[in-house]
Amino acid sequence: MATLLHVDSSPLGEASISRHLTKEFVQNWKAANPNGKVITRDLTSTSLKPITGEWVGSAYTPEDARTSAQRELLAPSDVLVAELEAADEYVFGVPMHNFAIPSVLKLWIDLIARVGKTFSYANGTPEGLLKGKKATFLIATGGNYDPSTSMAAYNFVEPYLRAVFGFLGVTELTFITAGGAAALNYGKVDRQTFLQPHVESVRAQFQAA
Ligand SMILES: Cc1cc2nc3c(=O)[nH]c(=O)nc-3n(C[C@H](O)[C@H](O)[C@H](O)COP(=O)(O)O)c2cc1C
Repeated sequence: MATLLHVDSSPLGEASISRHLTKEFVQNWKAANPNGKVITRDLTSTSLKPITGEWVGSAYTPEDARTSAQRELLAPSDVLVAELEAADEYVFGVPMHNFAIPSVLKLWIDLIARVGKTFSYANGTPEGLLKGKKATFLIATGGNYDPSTSMAAYNFVEPYLRAVFGFLGVTELTFITAGGAAALNYGKVDRQTFLQPHVESVRAQFQAA
């Protein structure tokens, strides 16, 4: 059965641009995969604790040597990693916050980057263990960070996500960015007009498939 993991990270609820786009993606995915399963992970309503020294020590302790306290410490991370392993495809809603990804998404990355589970150095070189997966990132930014602009160097969202997911073995990556969302706040454009081309870009992913 095809499985999609849908991860949202915007705190803005119904007003969120990235959430609007992931919703559109999920609707199209369901239509293309009527028997498919969607796992939903909303990072704004998931309580994730920052990693600690004990957590790192537990992750680097071989599985069969872990104490029950270490296993308990890793349990929330195990749940998130299992979701990544169970899905063939991922879609992420990513708002730009302070030129980077939201802190809840960074925290999630800290919890799913697990030695021996999602990456390995067993052969002396890094190897991503999330193989054969496909990821789509639906990003919303207030400003415009197109490569041709002087602001491009301030965009740490796409380069970071490319690096992390590539490291974890996910090489089929698609990025769709709804840039310039600040125009909505200034009343320069209405929401429907702003969203339309980005909704079309999401739909096009399914037409091309
Ligand atoms: C806390 C916060 C920080 C932000 N930082 C930036 C930023 O550094 N650059 C930018 O272009 N827009 C920034 N924005 C604007 C958002 O990227 C924009 O509103 C976008 O639509 C957010 O995605 P969302 O609508 O899915 O939440 C920020 C918004 C918030 C709430």
